[in-house]
Amino acid sequence: MEVISKQKQLRQRRSEALQPVGLVPTMGYLHEGHLSLIRRARQECKTVVVSIYVNPLQFGPNEDFEHYPRDLERDLSLAQEAGADWVFAPTPEEMLPRPLVTQVMVNELTDRLCGASRPGHFDGVATVVTQLFNLIQPDRAYFGLKDAQQVAVIQRMVEDLHMPVIIVPCPTLREPDGLAMSSRNVYLSPTERQRALILNRALQEATKRWEAGEWEKGEEAAAYLADMITSEAGVTLDYAEVLTYPDLEPVESFDQSKAVLAAVAARVGSTRLIDNRIWQRE
Ligand code: PAJ
Repeated sequence: MEVISKQKQLRQRRSEALQPVGLVPTMGYLHEGHLSLIRRARQECKTVVVSIYVNPLQFGPNEDFEHYPRDLERDLSLAQEAGADWVFAPTPEEMLPRPLVTQVMVNELTDRLCGASRPGHFDGVATVVTQLFNLIQPDRAYFGLKDAQQVAVIQRMVEDLHMPVIIVPCPTLREPDGLAMSSRNVYLSPTERQRALILNRALQEATKRWEAGEWEKGEEAAAYLADMITSEAGVTLDYAEVLTYPDLEPVESFDQSKAVLAAVAARVGSTRLIDNRIWQRE
């Protein structure tokens, strides 16, 4: 496996790469969720590139950019084991030699969910993903449905701007007790780690009720999720929403919606966690 930090070296390698080239963009501190994307890319691509870059553009002024967990040495050995050919790990200076006056903005889809709670977040994601696509020119790019809104935003950006890349959405990996894997789980104390289970548990219960046809509108399901999460001590609800997927519009009637996203975000102590389910009628 080769570690690449400079654009020039990347261009050189890219011009000789066996195709298809698969990209797994990450911010590092890799866990099994990331590794599942790398393994999937390995199955489908001749060249597998993992990018590791904590993107300052997608963090708000009071968010955890400075403290975001980092461990490049460990990441490199995990990426290699999972089958990466190259890791692109640029420095902030390499990616952002001067402040940008250009950015990619995806409207509407970003008005809700994490876009509403984290203003500017998805502009930062769309911009860095465009930069990475331009630098690496992947044929396929792998994204986790743990961040379902991110998948919808990237997919729409690629369609709107005719970017020549196939987006491959991949399932959420969970800890044995159901907690969605996340680099931010390391922030949780043992008590918080237990409390955090309410996100998955609420989604699981709501899924049963949706399957039983208990609700007509998305709002009813969202209210159920909100109640369940709010009742857990030490957990502060950020949002619970049930929207059409991938368009993220209100669900007027479950009977008429093909795919629906039930998404929740909450603070457990000071750690913000998200989770979701996609409900699909056969
Ligand atoms: P990061 O949070 O490091 O996640 C990298 C990729 O791993 C994303 O596509 C994310 O959805 C996926 N992922 C995270 N947890 C997962 C899990 N439990 N199961 C499956 N996949 C999981 O998402 C980002 O970085 C950034 O926004 C990025 C796209 C790299 C742009 O900076």
